Amino acid sequence: MPKLADLLVPAPLRKTPKPGQVAVPKTPAPQDLKSTPPERPDDFGRLGEQALEAPVEAVAWVDQRMAASGFLTGMLFRKVPKGTNWFYTLGSAALFAFIVQAVTGVFLAMFYTPSTTQAYTSIAHINNDVFLGQFVHGMHKWGASVMVILIFLHMGRTFFFGAYKYPRELNWVIGVVLLILTMTMAFTGYLLPFDQRSYWASIVGININGTGPIVGPYLSDFLRAGPEVGATTLSRFYAIHMLLLPGAIIALIGAHLYLVVKLGTTAPPWTKADKPRVAEPTTNLEAGASGNGYRPNGAPTIAGVQIDANHGDGTAPA
Ligand code: HEM
Repeated sequence: MPKLADLLVPAPLRKTPKPGQVAVPKTPAPQDLKSTPPERPDDFGRLGEQALEAPVEAVAWVDQRMAASGFLTGMLFRKVPKGTNWFYTLGSAALFAFIVQAVTGVFLAMFYTPSTTQAYTSIAHINNDVFLGQFVHGMHKWGASVMVILIFLHMGRTFFFGAYKYPRELNWVIGVVLLILTMTMAFTGYLLPFDQRSYWASIVGININGTGPIVGPYLSDFLRAGPEVGATTLSRFYAIHMLLLPGAIIALIGAHLYLVVKLGTTAPPWTKADKPRVAEPTTNLEAGASGNGYRPNGAPTIAGVQIDANHGDGTAPA
């Protein structure tokens, strides 16, 4: 019995089985309708069949208009280099952490009030009264640290595997911006409970920003949104945390993943490249042999380049 994973690979991408391996069965030949006519289902059976086909039909309807299946097949079944290991899952883990933050954040926003007088009590209400409130709040709070840790580990992996080099420099730069945005996300989220700890920690953070060269003072003024940390600061942090940063992060993750698919994955630095394929010696072939890139006059070519039979390495004759 072939493995389930093998059955899911589309026919053109399937590997030829090695001797002794079970081959994935080909699509059965169409039935001879004259000798074995299909049984005619009754009305109830027909309805059942139609109900089963409905989701497939719906997906096909969308696909005819979006032509997305080619893209999805290309993305899901793209080749990855030999030697990829668990370290390559850190980017996807960071992505999963972001999705968890987005989902739990939406539920928290349903009960949170961004006002200096009600922020703390609304969070106490989430923790004490709302069904699973403490659990969702805890996931969001701890998930923020998990996401930051995963991003740093992912960045370490891409650095030590040399994935920042040509042609992936732009993806590295997008990654750096994603890192800064994620840290800003954590910083702006910290003020939202508006308790003593978050209040004083935000003042420290804003003041640290103010020590930066040239833009520092402007940045801290922008973040404080007034002479003191207060109601306007909370509104500003809330808008940045809820609207500005998630939108920017989603857009940049989209660009990041597009480049990952487009450029392919970097092979681990310890893997060696396959030996280049060399042309077979051709001198003993009869003139006029056709196929396999040979010209009728016996002069062999690869991709239109005439091969010097003495070299036999694919280089054009001098
Ligand atoms: C929200 C944050 C991020 C998410 C969700 C994310 C997601 C991903 C995913 C899913 C991949 C492909 C799988 C993998 O190689 O792990 C990837 C690859 C990559 N990421 Fe990120 N990433 C993030 C942040 C970063 C950061 C901070 C950097 C570096 C500063 C970075 C640089 C790269 C590079 C260079 C690649 C290509 C790796 C290769 O070709 O092998 N990413 N990212």
